[in-house]
Amino acid sequence: MTEKNTVVYPGSYDPLTNGHIDIIERGLKIFDKIIVAVLRNPAKSYLFGLEERCAMLRSVFGDEERIEVDHFQGLLVDYLKGRKVLTVVRGLRAISDFEIEFQMALMNRKIDSAVETVFFVPSESYSFLSSKLVKEIYQLGGHVASMVPEIVDLKLKEAFARGA
Ligand code: PNS
Repeated sequence: MTEKNTVVYPGSYDPLTNGHIDIIERGLKIFDKIIVAVLRNPAKSYLFGLEERCAMLRSVFGDEERIEVDHFQGLLVDYLKGRKVLTVVRGLRAISDFEIEFQMALMNRKIDSAVETVFFVPSESYSFLSSKLVKEIYQLGGHVASMVPEIVDLKLKEAFARGA
């Protein structure tokens, strides 16, 4: 049996931003449960390790029964199969996201024809926000407190203090 009202929101979450939270909140209006699936890709270097990325998510969503934080490695479609979920959620911030998101959605469906992708558009105030820019701004001495949860702001401070 597939979990029809459960969706997977995959990502790197390096780190979680308010833009991700906005997408998760929108998703919860429509779906019963969201599995936030954090990618572990050994070929990629992250600012935060897998455990840290998951811990930040758990610290923000710990009390919310309808959100599960999990992690995966390898193909997303294989993870979906293992979780018996057919639907992927992704955010579309701007036209620039469209090309890669369209490609990923079609590729996932090509590998597994049962898989569908649903896109949510975040608040326009987050349309410019990305984990990559948050890290860059922080590293260059800018403030990101309005762009990330408090715990992430704190963890960024710790990461750059230890010389990331
Ligand atoms: O937060 P990100 O980095 O934009 O998330 C990208 C993610 C994790 C959704 C994507 O890289 C992914 O699904 N990776 C798993 C590997 C995979 O299945 N690749 C083929 C999909 S086209």
